[in-house]
Amino acid sequence: MLQDFEGKVAVVTGAASGIGRALCERFADEGMKIVMADVEQASLREAASRIEARGAEVLAVRTDVSRADDLSRLAEATLDRFEKVHVVCNNAGVFAGGLTWEAIPTDWEWVLGVNLFGVLHGIRAFVPILLRQNEPGHVVNTCSMAGLINMPLSGAYNVSKHAALSLSETLYHELRGQQSPVGCSALCPELIRTGIGRSERNRPAHLKRPADVDQPAQTMVEAAIRQSVDAGLDPAAMAERVVQGIREDRFYLLAEEDTSWTEACLTRLEDIRLRRNPTLGVVRAGN
Ligand SMILES: NC(=O)c1ccc[n+]([C@@H]2O[C@H](COP(=O)([O-])OP(=O)(O)OC[C@H]3O[C@@H](n4cnc5c(N)ncnc54)[C@H](O)[C@@H]3O)[C@@H](O)[C@H]2O)c1
Repeated sequence: MLQDFEGKVAVVTGAASGIGRALCERFADEGMKIVMADVEQASLREAASRIEARGAEVLAVRTDVSRADDLSRLAEATLDRFEKVHVVCNNAGVFAGGLTWEAIPTDWEWVLGVNLFGVLHGIRAFVPILLRQNEPGHVVNTCSMAGLINMPLSGAYNVSKHAALSLSETLYHELRGQQSPVGCSALCPELIRTGIGRSERNRPAHLKRPADVDQPAQTMVEAAIRQSVDAGLDPAAMAERVVQGIREDRFYLLAEEDTSWTEACLTRLEDIRLRRNPTLGVVRAGN
């Protein structure tokens, strides 16, 4: 399994902001070469210059992870530039809230397109390369603590994160089944101080909500997410969790400092064990 990062190649999606950018910073400090992918061109360029300024070799590729072809092109560009790839972080993600019966089909399409299909396309583009290399490597899929519990008013997000976690566990078993030197981890952040509460900024025009759609529940939960995330942990803590997780070959990279998340998750498992109706978990709304 991957221990030594120096000179190795990392690919990070959603690299222009938040957790993705912190991962790039941390990988740069480990002496890695970095491929940064994001849909937001201007902030990608700016983030890439910041990572280069830390001394890393960087390739920045505008990528929409919801499109399989973009991920194939990203994999090609990675090999063209660096010949190899060792760490793949399928990290890009977006949030849309609202009552399940009110969220419109394009809310679901957008959130699942980025948070689930983005991870799947990343796996399909990069895992065959990692297996062919037959060298130590690691896939890190950014899921969420929302992939282990189900808070109301976040249906599309919850579904996307449960699905991304399911996909990651499946991938883990498949890689182990092949005795591959490629590891896999699911990063499940709690509340982290990033731009996720402003996800609408890069929602494609054809998936936008019509201006006349008035959903107070949606407005309320999206404002609450912005507020809680602004009071969340520094994204650098996630980068530290990922680097340690890769070195220790740990799959579940869960909330650590704030135990209210893991307690809510254990309560859900207990509900299932006892065939009890779902308990609404109480989690801390900020740091
Ligand atoms: N911040 C939190 O509290 C939190 C908690 C749990 C999980 N997460 C997950 O962490 C991951 C990173 O999000 P973040 O919190 O750093 O938010 P962020 O908004 O700061 O960063 C997300 C990045 O993804 C990019 N992106 C959005 N759509 C894309 C697309 N179609 N293709 C490529 N890139 C795209 C954005 O441009 C942005 O740079 C997401 O998967 C998110 O669901 C975040």
